[in-house]
Amino acid sequence: AATTRYEAEASPAVCTGTVDSDWTGFSGAGFCNGTNATGAHAQFTVTAAAAGTATLQVRFANGTTTARPADLVVNGTTTATVSFESTGSWTGWTTKTLTVPVRSGSNTIRFTPTTAAGLPNLDYLDV
Ligand code: GCU
Repeated sequence: AATTRYEAEASPAVCTGTVDSDWTGFSGAGFCNGTNATGAHAQFTVTAAAAGTATLQVRFANGTTTARPADLVVNGTTTATVSFESTGSWTGWTTKTLTVPVRSGSNTIRFTPTTAAGLPNLDYLDV
């Protein structure tokens, strides 16, 4: 099936932080710069044609040298942990592939950081 892009800065996505555009290379109008705090999440609402397994591609940049791990929370249930390792620079946008269970119709996909550093900068989710 065709891929749908869900931009982190576009409603109904939620960015617990600011939408920024100061680091080049992002898609759309900007990216989510999450607050540097545990639990400062970013959330996407994605539509699935059928229940089953969906492959997601999340694009992010982490310009620090330390990973910024986050829980991957689907429809309120934590399904995995994502490492969000260093990408070398804030313009070093990198895509990570994730597999999640989805239900038919609308699903919330939330990244909840588990350390005080918060999330990396998040650009989009392709589904
Ligand atoms: C810098 C950078 C931001 C980034 C932040 C962070 O301030 O400019 O884009 O989000 O570091 O550490 O999260």
